[in-house]
Amino acid sequence: VTALAPRDVVRLEDGAVVLLDQRQLPDMEVELECRSAAEVAEAIRTLAIRGAPAIGIAAAYGYALAAQNGEDLVEADRMLRSARPTAVNLAWALDRMRDEPTPQRAREIQQQEEDDDRRMAEHALELFASSPHVLTHCNTGALATGGYGTALGAIRLACERGRVEHVWVTETRPLNQGSRLTAWELERLGIPFSVIGDSAAGSLMQAGRVDIVLTGADRIAANGDTANKIGTYGLAVLAHHHGVPFVVVAPASTIDRRLADGAGIPIEERAAYEITSRFPAHNAAFDVTPAGLISAIVTGAGVHRQPFSFA
Ligand code: MRU
Repeated sequence: VTALAPRDVVRLEDGAVVLLDQRQLPDMEVELECRSAAEVAEAIRTLAIRGAPAIGIAAAYGYALAAQNGEDLVEADRMLRSARPTAVNLAWALDRMRDEPTPQRAREIQQQEEDDDRRMAEHALELFASSPHVLTHCNTGALATGGYGTALGAIRLACERGRVEHVWVTETRPLNQGSRLTAWELERLGIPFSVIGDSAAGSLMQAGRVDIVLTGADRIAANGDTANKIGTYGLAVLAHHHGVPFVVVAPASTIDRRLADGAGIPIEERAAYEITSRFPAHNAAFDVTPAGLISAIVTGAGVHRQPFSFA
């Protein structure tokens, strides 16, 4: 078992934010060095690093680097904050860096996120009592968090405790975070899994071969409405139809208490060429799952049930 350490995913070195370039996985393990806030923002925009908690941590390191470089910090904040619109973690992390733009502060943020991940995994254990067959979407592991993982961290711990037999990994079109990144992480961890086409989830549930669905989140509104990778909403509808628990696992940094509900969450639209280089395409990167379809939201504070409130 060769689990990724948080610093393998993203870290600050002398004069550079160093990150594992997720665009090249699983074929090549290549590190990317970003030497300015602009380069970190570009790495976030182009998905060299992705996943809501991980981009927050990368932005924190990028801001600390900008301070060390003597860059204009107002401009650095603006570039990093606007690199991607949906995950609230970018703003959350940068708000924490403003008073103290130091490497130490950014490392504390990464450590806090990892600690939160481990608490979530412990809390989530109770949900796996009789759920040996798990389905997950996108990538929510160490790669997405720079820590232990959210939904995938919960699956990992449940597997260690003998509560998971098999994981269904949705491909997660168009950029295949499931078949490239989650599959790569599960293989390293020695957890049994199969990749499935996104469109296969319904028939697996119909056949009774999915006991629980776990996903992460990019932003959770005060009422529990949850933005996550495109396709999450469809999985929640299917799970509801088939009586399968649908669980969101996310750290405090992903909750946006200022938004009453999911209608206010900005949804990123990415370039058409990510879907087809020839035809017109609509490429919304996220969707919003209404709170009513979510059985439980697990945070570091515990397992939240409906009606959700995150005081
Ligand atoms: O476009 P991505 O790969 O950044 O999307 C990531 C997701 O949707 C994850 O599920 C989410 O960030 C939660 S990660 C712990």
